[in-house]
Amino acid sequence: MTEPLILTEIHGDGARRTALIRINRPKQLNALNDALMVEMGQALIGFDRDDSIGCIVITGNEKAFAAGADIAAMAKYDYMHVHQTEYITRNWETLLQVRKPVIAAVAGFALGGGCELAMMCDFIIAADNAKFGQPEIKLGIIPGAGGTQRLPRAVGKAKTMDLVLTGRMMDVQEAERSGLVSRVVPADKLLEEALAAAAAICAYSGPSLALAKACVNKAFEGGLRDGIDHERRIFHSLFATEDQKEGMDAFLNKRAPRFRQR
Ligand code: CAA
Repeated sequence: MTEPLILTEIHGDGARRTALIRINRPKQLNALNDALMVEMGQALIGFDRDDSIGCIVITGNEKAFAAGADIAAMAKYDYMHVHQTEYITRNWETLLQVRKPVIAAVAGFALGGGCELAMMCDFIIAADNAKFGQPEIKLGIIPGAGGTQRLPRAVGKAKTMDLVLTGRMMDVQEAERSGLVSRVVPADKLLEEALAAAAAICAYSGPSLALAKACVNKAFEGGLRDGIDHERRIFHSLFATEDQKEGMDAFLNKRAPRFRQR
């Protein structure tokens, strides 16, 4: 029997729980191939539609989040193949359709497409053994799943150029210093910390979370004025929700809010 390419679990005991997706190609350091990305995409869309799920965590194992796109598969591709099959575009970016918060819990290698997958998540919690890089230059290619665009937005031009042009890896301290990861935790606490962050998120209003995420993403995709105008419209619209009334009433009455997801 072949091993499943991803493993999924549900964690938590609140009204909304956390879906955990584990990348499961340990022998290949979790190298990403089309079949795996299709399965992950289906799982992501399923969890995004499931009202009992409030947050999604994507992780690998202690050695690798993912060491990139599968080089053995790519070695056989030629230009017409990648062009005609819309390699990457067709099925690697499903994560970007997910409206719920998605956390990357990264231990070990997050290289090439692995680093790019982590960057497509909303934020990265990293173990103290995590290593990040875009080593595609060593293979005679360039990052192909958003790395040249998302990495400079996270760490700036100088460090991106350094990583993309030399192909070197950066350790987790450098990654945190430069803004790529939101927190660093001991490797044996990675999942615990990521699931605790997810549980905190699950307790909040789903519509507010989805719109907060969309607004922050606007900051990466457009100009400042457009982003602020967009944020203001969304901010105003949240005053039409029951959860806003509930959240503020609960604060003023010194009680825990009971968000009803509308
Ligand atoms: N694709 C396919 N197989 C991979 C892989 C990858 N990206 N990364 C590692 N593996 C495989 C190795 O071939 C090896 O398989 P065998 O045991 O069958 O030989 C196994 O995983 C273990 O790897 P190593 O023996 O190399 O382990 P190491 O600890 O010595 O080195 C490493 C670890 C530095 C991560 C090294 O494996 C490496 O450099 N991997 C390639 C990283 C890379 O170039 N990633 C970018 C890919 S291109 C891309 O991602 C394009 C894009 O933007 C979409």
